[in-house]
Amino acid sequence: MSVHTISTHAIPKLYYRREGNGPVLVLLHGFPATGSLWDEIPAKLSDRFTLIIPDLPGTGNSELEGEVTTLTEVAESIKAALDDTGIDKAVIAGHSMGGYVALAFAQAYPATIAGVALVHSTAAADDPAKKDLRKKTIELIRKGGKDSFVRSFVPTLFSSEFRNANPGRIEAQIAESSTMPEATMIAFYTAMMERKDSQDFIKTADTPVQWIIGADDSIIPAEKVMQQACLSDVNFIHLYEGVGHMSMIEGPVRLASDLEKFGVYCYSRPG
Ligand code: MLT
Repeated sequence: MSVHTISTHAIPKLYYRREGNGPVLVLLHGFPATGSLWDEIPAKLSDRFTLIIPDLPGTGNSELEGEVTTLTEVAESIKAALDDTGIDKAVIAGHSMGGYVALAFAQAYPATIAGVALVHSTAAADDPAKKDLRKKTIELIRKGGKDSFVRSFVPTLFSSEFRNANPGRIEAQIAESSTMPEATMIAFYTAMMERKDSQDFIKTADTPVQWIIGADDSIIPAEKVMQQACLSDVNFIHLYEGVGHMSMIEGPVRLASDLEKFGVYCYSRPG
């Protein structure tokens, strides 16, 4: 494994890990997390792929300037990381918010993208209810309520079955999520609220899409994602029974195996 940092006009420092060999698979974490979200993914995946695992701006070892950025600027920083290490083709797997960044990347850099894996994510924009909820959360965080937000939000990311069986793992994730600074949380919530709908894009783009869906996901419900899961010309659809929003923790072996199959397909398809 090697570690690297780069900077762009909008992002002062983006830290990423590079490990393994073979075609490139970028793993983008969601909110509120860091690149270590992927640590339980079996090492087997790095026998097959070169993994690029960033800490998104303002998380972990990466930095963010000011309060506001856009997911396109975040995608630009990922492109700069790929350029930095001489990569011109990538499958990008994004968890939830990381999936929104992957879609922003695919729209900005279609020639670089070999496939997009949406891991508990959606191509839809926020609906009015979600925007309202984000505004209220931003207010709460501004008033100093970050810790209570994280403590109440993180457990809801997991299925009740996993949550009840693994209280220690939930506590560890709360601790990890609490490392995200308030300014980063506000910046990401603002950027997510302002992101565009990408459903028309995936209908017309020549990009295979993988849909990893948790049947018990209360953040991005399975029934909503299922409505999008045939939009692309090539769709890999996986519905995980008993899993919530966090298959990289709730079912990492299965997730790694499905990402591997999708990656192998994306790099072997003609054209
Ligand atoms: C995430 O898991 O990245 C976020 O919960 C996604 C979102 O809030 O839309």
